[in-house]
Amino acid sequence: MANPTPKPSPSLIILRVILGCWLCSSVALGATYNVVNFGAKSDGKTDSTKAFLNAWAKACASTNPASIYVPQGKFLLKSATFNGKCNNKGISITIDGTLVAPSDYRVTENSGNWLEFERVNGVSIHGGALDGQGTALWDCKNSGKGNCPSGATTLAFTNSNNIAIGGLTSMNSQLFHIVFNGCQNVKLQGVKVLADGNSPNTDGIHIQMSSHVAIINSKIRTGDDCISIGPGTTNLWIENIACGPGHGISIGSLGKDLKEAGVQNVTVKTVTFTGTQNGVRIKTWGRPSNGFVRNVLFQDAIMENVENPVIIDQNYCSDNKGCPGQASGVRVM
Ligand SMILES: *[C@@H]1O[C@H](CO)[C@@H](O)[C@H](O)[C@H]1NC(C)=O
Repeated sequence: MANPTPKPSPSLIILRVILGCWLCSSVALGATYNVVNFGAKSDGKTDSTKAFLNAWAKACASTNPASIYVPQGKFLLKSATFNGKCNNKGISITIDGTLVAPSDYRVTENSGNWLEFERVNGVSIHGGALDGQGTALWDCKNSGKGNCPSGATTLAFTNSNNIAIGGLTSMNSQLFHIVFNGCQNVKLQGVKVLADGNSPNTDGIHIQMSSHVAIINSKIRTGDDCISIGPGTTNLWIENIACGPGHGISIGSLGKDLKEAGVQNVTVKTVTFTGTQNGVRIKTWGRPSNGFVRNVLFQDAIMENVENPVIIDQNYCSDNKGCPGQASGVRVM
């Protein structure tokens, strides 16, 4: 015969009440919103876009720092924009599963970005995988038949500050994998980018009009630039990166416009390039521009099987069609 459960002593009850209240108050200080509780399904088939947007709306409305949790499994999401400004200074997103784009690329073709964060502050993403399902679009582009949409960037941060991304994998992006535009204070570490070496326009990480961005301890295998650095990038730190396949780490292309913000203070340290088209590169269009590149350090690069280890091309012209054919106004100092 089993012993009857002993009655808890009064002091134990008091302890439980105190502990319970301490736990409930700490939850109230930083609530966690699990996307499954908003109707997201981990079957990879059910459209979970609304559930994610609703979880975001709750986290964003919270006056205390909040968390969003994505459990294991596959979550199908169409294009989604996670808008600020939020009522708090930090939203932490932990992903144990994979976010999957629709396999029909026409579903995201007009949005430019698959997942976008706009005007957010203090957002961090930990872990997880983003699958852009780009292979059908690459096939269309590689077939040379034309009439393919440009596709969507997998993850974009626009006009945002204090962003941290750690341990995230981006795979099979239709277009660029991760883009920062108009952002301050960004840290990426332990990021993995995976796409076929023949996948067109699948830049790994692209930065423009942004400052104080650090990309460290990351692995990038893709079909275009591993990292591309656009106009208006300042105080960029890149360290301990494995790049390849891919087109290397590029500053540019720059000088497409007459009036363009310059690139300044870029450090690229300890990078291994393996089987890439280029190593470190600066590329500018051959036309007038007030753009510039200043104070760049490329240090401790290891090149294995790289076509152009160091290249400065001031007559860049993608696809060699309709090239301006003038002198580039971009000063490289
Ligand atoms: C250059 O950028 C780094 C960050 O990458 C920063 O720590 C440093 O202060 C910057 N230098 C100048 C002169 O702005």
